[in-house]
Amino acid sequence: MALTFRKVHPVFAGESSPIELRAVHDAETLAKIRAGMDEFAVLIFRDQPFADAEQLAFAQRLDGRLHEGTGSRVIAKNRFGNEALSDISNLDADGEIMKADDRRRQYTLGNRLWHTDASFKDPAGRYSMLHARVVPPVAADTEFADMRAAYDTLPVETKALIEGLRTHHSIAHSRQILGFEFSPSEQDQLKGAIHPLVRTIPRSLRRSLYLASHQTRIIDWPLPEGRLLLRDLTEHATQRENVYRHEWRVGDLVIWDNRATMHRARPFDDGKYRRELRRVTTLDIEQPALAAVGS
Ligand code: OGA
Ligand code: MN
Repeated sequence: MALTFRKVHPVFAGESSPIELRAVHDAETLAKIRAGMDEFAVLIFRDQPFADAEQLAFAQRLDGRLHEGTGSRVIAKNRFGNEALSDISNLDADGEIMKADDRRRQYTLGNRLWHTDASFKDPAGRYSMLHARVVPPVAADTEFADMRAAYDTLPVETKALIEGLRTHHSIAHSRQILGFEFSPSEQDQLKGAIHPLVRTIPRSLRRSLYLASHQTRIIDWPLPEGRLLLRDLTEHATQRENVYRHEWRVGDLVIWDNRATMHRARPFDDGKYRRELRRVTTLDIEQPALAAVGS
């Protein structure tokens, strides 16, 4: 199949030629998609009629083991009974639009801060695959920022300053910024993880800034200096030229590389319109795991 990607933004992000991912099982096409991810960091596939099991199976074919340690499992039970399938919706357990003061809604609002998925875990998330089932008649977009371009355009002094630094990420932190409160036992389950601030992405060998609102501090730095630097880097990384805004259509599958991008949800009238997407995220572990699930 002649699979091609058309760049939809000057810096990154590509849209695929028509393809039905449910039917993609061959190593060659899967390799082409991975190569597309290496180049574009965000790929858009239109008109994907995935059912849950098909979305889960495709994610494993493409990138191996699935992440099941979402932060939200500490807050509420997964609506689908499968922690690998994240409920990215404004619906409650009964499928009704959540009330403004619903605790799960308030927790989910944290997605409006720039972040990467599962950076508060080790292993963290690698590819996230978000599938649109129901989209509002108003804009309810997702923005992506290219963290490779962000790194490349840093002044040389900053590159030298941040080389080798590590940071601590905690999902509790990004929620606490917004005033969300955790019980001591919830807090206990959300210890977070430490990751390098600058990464070299295998295969493409491009360097990338690993930032997220989950970051609490730079290891071995005083808190204020660390947080100020992380803020400056985030401001630099998310400047307009670096951001692709995705306008969802039903059936879209958007795949992003969490090592190479940050993303955030944009606000909409979520008390009025239903918005229902489902996300599957793979674990950022060694690629050889693919051999076991590839065929
Ligand atoms: C996610 C996410 C943003 C959105 O699925 O990980 O952050 O716009 N989604 O729903
Ligand atoms: Mn996310």
